[in-house]
Amino acid sequence: MRATFIGHQTWLIEHGATRILVDPLLCEDFGLVDQYRIDIYPPRTVDHRALADVDLIFLSHEHSDHFDIQSLNLLPRSARFVVGSTIVEPVKQCIRDLGFELTEVDSTEPMLIKDLSLRFYPADPKTAFWESRVTQIYLEERHGPCSGIFIAVDALISEVFKTDIVEERVSSPSLVIVSNNSRVSPPGAFQSLENWGKNAADSNRKTGPLGLGVLNSVLTAYLEDFPAQPEHIAMCGGGFIKRFDGFAAFPFSEQPMLSQLANQLSLDVNVVGLLPGQGIRLDAPQESQIDIDWVTVDHLQHQQLIRELETFIDDRKSIEVASSVLPDLETPAEYAECLERCEVELNRMARSLMLFITGRKVLQMSHYRGRPLGPQRIVFSFVCHRLGLRSSYGLNMVSGRFEVEPLTELDALIAHYPYGVCLPLVDFMGVADGTLQIWDVVGVSIQSWFEHGIFDGLIPFFYSYYGENGSPHLLDRIIRRNMATLEIAQCN
Ligand SMILES: [Fe+2]
Repeated sequence: MRATFIGHQTWLIEHGATRILVDPLLCEDFGLVDQYRIDIYPPRTVDHRALADVDLIFLSHEHSDHFDIQSLNLLPRSARFVVGSTIVEPVKQCIRDLGFELTEVDSTEPMLIKDLSLRFYPADPKTAFWESRVTQIYLEERHGPCSGIFIAVDALISEVFKTDIVEERVSSPSLVIVSNNSRVSPPGAFQSLENWGKNAADSNRKTGPLGLGVLNSVLTAYLEDFPAQPEHIAMCGGGFIKRFDGFAAFPFSEQPMLSQLANQLSLDVNVVGLLPGQGIRLDAPQESQIDIDWVTVDHLQHQQLIRELETFIDDRKSIEVASSVLPDLETPAEYAECLERCEVELNRMARSLMLFITGRKVLQMSHYRGRPLGPQRIVFSFVCHRLGLRSSYGLNMVSGRFEVEPLTELDALIAHYPYGVCLPLVDFMGVADGTLQIWDVVGVSIQSWFEHGIFDGLIPFFYSYYGENGSPHLLDRIIRRNMATLEIAQCN
């Protein structure tokens, strides 16, 4: 069996005459909103004609760095298309509209595809909730001696899979493919779940993780209770460039370099970090690395990007949030109209926020910064940098309604409210009406602050409320717009 890396988290698994494609990103960029497509790192081109005979396409989940409509449109409709039962309806509909026959799996019983046996597993429930709809895949050679490949994607490894190994329903995998999503931002640049309250002048900002901490979390802690030591662990992920004032919250990960370092520190496991177009053979240890000629890395540009990232990290300049992702509002009349729609949206959302962990945590608080709390405990502050305007609303936890907050400075809001968020009005309404996805603005134009842990704040609430699962109708709008401009290929 062999696994070929195609970029970011896209893999081609082959054995005998069987070819399985996982989370295909085949273009030079990806994204569901055309204006905000994101470049793959390292830059590479894929000759998709080499995939004309794939037997099966598997989509682990619907995040846009896994589900790319333009890439799917390049693939043969003769391939069986498999998703887990947690995938949301608009994605299933899109796959059918592209002309694929869709199979939804909801059990871990093996699916036999020519020379391979596939099993699909639900992610471990301890996975961060916005990745918990990931379905993981285990591929074994159908006729032994068995070697197996487990692809964990963005989630913690399935407990069900571990039990299947212990109870010998499956062989233990030779290769586990893990995602390194660490994206460690340099000091001064903010991260997606940055706590602005803790960044205030009077607080000590925690230093970032040590490099070894990253390798430990991806390779050791991640596999801590895994029942068998795999021969190989391959790292992938972090394979895109989301530029904004340098790389800010989204530096890419250089997996080949990280794997080399990990191997120097490891004795009994082979850590694999591949460039797109490279693969690993599990049945021929002497010549385990393979190269294919239909994926071509632009090595010059690759080296240039590495230098650029190094300079960005060394410079340690502080990074400001973007003024807005969408073009900002231009006139006071536009602002007033947008704010009116925003007020409706806020009060529609209020009860969900009160029931989310943020609302429950803030209700448990009696004091904040030495001062007793009143009924308004969560604030949304909207800005329009072009017009120099700000409008803030505090959620009254008794009435369940947002009320106008007269404080006008961000620092004053942070000092007054234990939980808050500040973002461009145009971006908030862009997310609320399905022009943008929440992922397009987090780490770019939002500042949030919170007490308790990083899953308790308003960004996780946004992931939940505006994400694909909480608001499938918004994803549906985005997919439909994408499909409307797509020329659907007639591939067989
Ligand atoms: Fe994901």
